[in-house]
Amino acid sequence: MKLLILNGPNLNFLGIREPAIYGKETYEDLLALIRLHAEKRGVAVSFYQSNHEGDLVDAIQKAYFDKIDGIVFNPGAYTHTSIAIADAVKAVGIPTVEVHISNVKEREPFRQVSYIGLVATASVIGEGLQGYLHAMDILIDNA
Ligand code: DQA
Repeated sequence: MKLLILNGPNLNFLGIREPAIYGKETYEDLLALIRLHAEKRGVAVSFYQSNHEGDLVDAIQKAYFDKIDGIVFNPGAYTHTSIAIADAVKAVGIPTVEVHISNVKEREPFRQVSYIGLVATASVIGEGLQGYLHAMDILIDNA
């Protein structure tokens, strides 16, 4: 099984950005955590992060041609704005679990809308970096 771990804008700034909300662990720490979990669960993982909406659409389309079995996706702020990214997830038909490190449900009103949530298989919200591992488990256990 091949999983793509996809991260949107500002997630490369983990550890630097608002540590009270997103924690002190870095993007590299996140990748290490995921690699370890992938090894434990016997799945292959690839990673992509971009700050650009179109790049994320391209990465989702590439996942189709690369025969990716599942996507763990934290679209960052594009969660709340991007119909193009939601359309791409729908277009490729690859099971996708939305992840948010913070509990967006208890934050600003503009974070209450998720276009990705409308097309995702499941959403994991407010579990910190562990949420990525939970999302992997959902994809693996439902394969
Ligand atoms: C986030 C929540 C989004 O609202 C925010 O724009 C992010 C990160 C999270 O992981 O909690 O960039 O997706």
